[in-house]
Amino acid sequence: MKVTRISDRVHYIGVNDRTKHIFEALWPIPYGVSYNSYLITGSEKSAIVDGVEADYALRQIEHIDNLSGGRKPDYLIINHMEPDHSGAIRMLRAAYPDMTIVGNAQTIAMIKGFYGVDTNMLTVKDGDTLSLGEDTTLRFNLTPMVHWPETMMTYIEEEATLFAGDAFGCFGALNGAVLDTDMNTDHYFPEMLRYYSNIVGKYGQFVQRAIKKFEGVTIKTVCPTHGPVWRSRIKEVVDLYDKLSRYEPLYNGVTIVYGSMYGNTETMAETAAEALAEAGIRDISIHNASMTDLSYIISDIFRHRGLIIASPTYSDSLFPPIRNVMEAIVMRGVKNREIMMVGSCTWAQQAVKVMSGYLESLKAVCVTEPVLIKQAPTSEQLEQCREAATALARKLTTAEG
Ligand SMILES: Cc1cc2nc3c(=O)[nH]c(=O)nc-3n(C[C@H](O)[C@H](O)[C@H](O)COP(=O)(O)O)c2cc1C
Ligand SMILES: [Fe+2]
Ligand SMILES: [Fe+2]
Repeated sequence: MKVTRISDRVHYIGVNDRTKHIFEALWPIPYGVSYNSYLITGSEKSAIVDGVEADYALRQIEHIDNLSGGRKPDYLIINHMEPDHSGAIRMLRAAYPDMTIVGNAQTIAMIKGFYGVDTNMLTVKDGDTLSLGEDTTLRFNLTPMVHWPETMMTYIEEEATLFAGDAFGCFGALNGAVLDTDMNTDHYFPEMLRYYSNIVGKYGQFVQRAIKKFEGVTIKTVCPTHGPVWRSRIKEVVDLYDKLSRYEPLYNGVTIVYGSMYGNTETMAETAAEALAEAGIRDISIHNASMTDLSYIISDIFRHRGLIIASPTYSDSLFPPIRNVMEAIVMRGVKNREIMMVGSCTWAQQAVKVMSGYLESLKAVCVTEPVLIKQAPTSEQLEQCREAATALARKLTTAEG
């Protein structure tokens, strides 16, 4: 049986992108990414759900033609307008001129804005249904801000399949199989954490709303726009999205992010890590903010309950790579973390003031007073650093108990 068959009515017609280095011109994708698209065939009509990126339009059209035996799709349902899914719209319209494009009012306006397409459109509202024949009913559910304002999800009532858009998606191309029951999906989970924290991370409250909207609704298959189709691991995937969107950390570990030009601040980061390990913390990651891509730093910050940030003062302000990290945390409204700060300078402590300002805007409170060094750390300052890290470890192990 073809691995692209999801059910009698639903087939996978998406593509893998293994050439792009950075998704959204920001996020590294060492394992590639898939742009998932689906063909639903009812007894009378058929519908494509979501498109692919423009570069891959011809491949998607080939998949459709191979499957449909000359029958042209009647509808193109657009759940999400970000161009990784909508880029192929004009090519699809050219291939199937009679196909009606389905979206909500915001979607339809964006299609005109991005692609100048405004004919043969069907506008749907929250809860509306569309019949593809007596055996297939599609219901549209508006889920704004997961991840753009027009985002919606499409549900096949007869088989409880949810086309979820970016929700429940992850980085990582598909390596042959499509359904989680046909592959080992373990390695997609770290990429789901990174995908969520990098891209959807700001919209936790909206993801929560979407999850609540489907409470009590039977869902047997989840078809996201990126990564595997979920059937056997739906609960784990929804639980992960639920936890992350409540800003609940996954582990009582610590992420240490530091900037250092000449090694003094780095010594403080290493000292803090040793003290944490001695206090029993088993999951510690250290990132030199100048070296590790921000994507992985954000992902670890969402993973761990503990966070240590250490920055030199640079031109009377924060060291620029640490500023990027602080901006990323504030933009995503990260909550529920145990935090410690280290500031360094040669003549005037400024980094720690700027970092405190960022944390105040998040209403985040540090476990201890910031640890400060001027020039090279003294033995007293190293001891202070150890004590502060030990206090942080105690908080975390108490949270565990
Ligand atoms: C380009 C540059 C700009 C700096 N600007 C400041 C500053 O404005 N105020 C200050 O007190 N120290 C400043 N410093 C000094 C560092 O903050 C200080 O030496 C710190 O301890 C560096 O830690 P590191 O050894 O981890 O790089 C600057 C250092 C460099 C290299
Ligand atoms: Fe998106
Ligand atoms: Fe996407």
